[in-house]
Amino acid sequence: MIGFVRVFLWLSLSTAVYAIPYDIRGRGTAVPPTEDDFYTVPPDVGNSPPGTILKHRIPPAPIAAFGLDPVNLQSSYQILYRTNDNFGNATATVATILIPHNADYTKVLSYQVAQDSSFRNCAPSYALQLASASGGPFGTLVTQAELLLIEAALERGWILIVPDHEGPTAAFLANRQAGQATLDGIRAALSSGAFTSIDKDATVAMWGYSGGSLASGWAAELQPTYAPELKIAGAALGGTVPNITTVLTEINKSLFAGIIPSGMVGLSNQYPYVAEVLDQHILTQYKPLFGLVRNQCLSADVLDFLGRDVLAMFDDPSLPFTDPRLVQIENDNGMGHAIPGIPLYVYKSTGDELSPVDETDALVSKYCAGGTSVEYVRDVLSEHGSLAITGAAKALSWLIDVLDGEKPQVRCSTSTVASSLLDPSALEVIPQFIIDALLNLLQKPVGPIVIG
Ligand SMILES: *[C@@H]1O[C@H](CO)[C@@H](O)[C@H](O)[C@H]1NC(C)=O
Ligand SMILES: *[C@@H]1O[C@H](CO)[C@@H](O)[C@H](O)[C@H]1NC(C)=O
Ligand SMILES: *[C@@H]1O[C@H](CO)[C@@H](O)[C@H](O)[C@H]1NC(C)=O
Repeated sequence: MIGFVRVFLWLSLSTAVYAIPYDIRGRGTAVPPTEDDFYTVPPDVGNSPPGTILKHRIPPAPIAAFGLDPVNLQSSYQILYRTNDNFGNATATVATILIPHNADYTKVLSYQVAQDSSFRNCAPSYALQLASASGGPFGTLVTQAELLLIEAALERGWILIVPDHEGPTAAFLANRQAGQATLDGIRAALSSGAFTSIDKDATVAMWGYSGGSLASGWAAELQPTYAPELKIAGAALGGTVPNITTVLTEINKSLFAGIIPSGMVGLSNQYPYVAEVLDQHILTQYKPLFGLVRNQCLSADVLDFLGRDVLAMFDDPSLPFTDPRLVQIENDNGMGHAIPGIPLYVYKSTGDELSPVDETDALVSKYCAGGTSVEYVRDVLSEHGSLAITGAAKALSWLIDVLDGEKPQVRCSTSTVASSLLDPSALEVIPQFIIDALLNLLQKPVGPIVIG
């Protein structure tokens, strides 16, 4: 029940705190991707190698999403670049490049947002231009907290790449595409020096939580084969989600039930077979409700399906577990298909109510057995939503180490901590005004932990 209260709290808080005047700096108008030619995949996209910059521009409206004053941004760019979809077909997507004041052009962080939605206009490249990225039908609950993490990284002087890793069709859960889009976004950013000044040999790291950990984790797994030339210093993966099938069972009829329709519709945006299944097996009376997720973002999805038995909206509720082709697609987009060749920091709530911790334990063991360096932190006093915030400082301090060129001391380590937030050295890496804003998002539930 606390969780339910908290979602409403987050929603109301984020709209209250971030509803700043839209045109304070005489900005242009942000154009939604569905109405913006910049996003169109060129017909000859297959002629350039993955990572090629096809177009670039200054965003039509300045980046306004942070709601923090002053926003530490010197400039920003959008890049349309070649990548590949889940089937290996050529496609293109957009990345936003954020350059802080006093930028260090030799340090780049690719931050993968947990968009978790199947609507193109929830893409971070668009949301970042909205003064209230969390408002109305475009609400992106998780992104609001993530904006603060992105801001914390900008405060380090790092260049940020934020790819629209769901690609041009908002194919949420088409995770091979998400990983490829992440790697190709890095390739594109490293070759953008002529207009961004990014050093072509910059040190690169990746960060993502939940849906963003799928994109980042897939990028880590694919890198040795898909982008062997890229030297990535490490990746921080939080709230990992190794197995999609399990998540369906865990979140049905829960706080996060809305992720089932957005995930299914997201997959249908890539797999014609999933589109067919939804068309044939969602009961007629639920089709309008399911259809909503095509035109709204995560927080609206969560609210519309709060506590609903989404699986019972199929004519056969067991279909996602019994239809062999559907099960295959779910498994194909889970994690653990390959062993990353870069160091990882993995953080996960032991009470994660979206994806059970033992599946991440198993994933980490598999990576370690395969030779990956993994620092794995299991956090007790958290849940899926809150660890995104309370685990952030420790993740950031790990990223600082790898971007500073430090190599992991031990190859693999696992620790179970009461709360990552209690680590005072970790908290030092985030400026106080960001910590305050983060804690605001958490409000009461974490209060007692912090005060202690
Ligand atoms: C994409 O790849 C699939 C599988 O290889 C193929 O069947 C399909 O025709 C391709 N689609 C396009 C648009 O090239
Ligand atoms: C959906 O979740 C509810 C609550 O956990 C459960 O009663 C129901 O059996 C689930 N449906 C399926 C098909 O797992
Ligand atoms: C996910 O879990 C299911 C059921 O426990 C299992 O059958 C499947 O192989 C797992 N998928 C992956 C990708 O690990």
